[in-house]
Amino acid sequence: MKGKFTVMVLHVVGARPNFMKAAPVYRALAARGHKQTLVHTGQHYDALMSDVFFKGLGIPDPDESLNVGSGSHAQQTAAIMSLFEPVVLARKPDIVLVYGDVNSTVAAALVCSKLGVRVGHVESGLRSFDRSMPEEINRLVTDQLADLLFTPSVDGDENLAREGIAKEKVFFVGNVMIDTLIRFLPEADALFPTFKSELSLDSYGLVTLHRPSNVDDETNFLPMLEVLDKLSCELPLVFPVHPRTRQKWSTQLEQCNPNLRAIAPLGYLEFLALQKSAKVVITDSGGIQEETTFLGTPCLTLRENTERPITLTCGSNVLIGRDWELLRKEFHKALKGNQTRKNIPPLWDGRASERIADVITGLTY
Ligand code: UD1
Repeated sequence: MKGKFTVMVLHVVGARPNFMKAAPVYRALAARGHKQTLVHTGQHYDALMSDVFFKGLGIPDPDESLNVGSGSHAQQTAAIMSLFEPVVLARKPDIVLVYGDVNSTVAAALVCSKLGVRVGHVESGLRSFDRSMPEEINRLVTDQLADLLFTPSVDGDENLAREGIAKEKVFFVGNVMIDTLIRFLPEADALFPTFKSELSLDSYGLVTLHRPSNVDDETNFLPMLEVLDKLSCELPLVFPVHPRTRQKWSTQLEQCNPNLRAIAPLGYLEFLALQKSAKVVITDSGGIQEETTFLGTPCLTLRENTERPITLTCGSNVLIGRDWELLRKEFHKALKGNQTRKNIPPLWDGRASERIADVITGLTY
């Protein structure tokens, strides 16, 4: 049968960065009349890492919650797989959409490909070429298994071609995270003045750190914290702390000077508002490299590599690694407003999820 009729799409989300990617795709598919099921694996479970995003982004409550919780990579991936398989068998989706590069993404893709259910990978083709990152393994495996690969930038298409993925399966659609950003920016702007005065902020920088390579051991984390502590004497730094980071370093965070403001994780709108008006963002997150590129906020990335090179070549991102001298230099440059690259990559236009929904609607089932 040829397309242009409704199908049953099952979305799998599990961790914080999945929620803002799935929200616009869900919406675009709903507008085309498709039936949809939302499965939350429970990889992230704290209210501040999960529930607030569902509420804030207007995503419906999950139809199925697997409640897998935390564990080693093998435990978490295996738990998702064994709980997800019966859901797929019972719900019989025509297509399953997985997002990004978290353990929930690869676990669901593995289940579906073995059941012969078509898999679409949203945010496909990104590569850091660093296999010590768990997310890189998740990306490589998911892309090998996926039937439809939706890329956010042309480097994704090039990576997939090099890995031998047939080009008929690859669709350059743009960045769904930016769809969400564009939709919610007016709300974030409206909230900012009150939020700013609640936090008693004037000029500030924003920090996030959660990558295992940065926060899991003291030889990496403590020198980083010391530099941030010093920089915060020049510009207050707001640091919403990920649970992974808080668990390990709560004592050390409390000992920092009060200008390094370690607070609880923020909701989507609050964080977006802070990113937009920050003098500088210091991070190891992938999504934040993209959001700052769109917003034109200087981003200093505390990693040796990035799977999002377009944010370096086109956007406002600079890779710092552990070069603290470079961090200081770029920090001062940002404070003076001397940062030059501020372009928006092609198809980061708020319509990526529309393009995905069009591809899905046009398929033969
Ligand atoms: C996961 C993703 C990472 C993504 C990040 C965003 C993988 C391999 N990693 O990393 O790509 O950038 O989410 O946040 O999928 N914890 C809580 N409450 C929660 C969730 C986690 O306290 O709601 C704690 C647990 O102790 C857990 C630790 O944080 O062991 C790490 O959580 P986990 O989901 O394993 O990885 P993240 O570091 O969050």
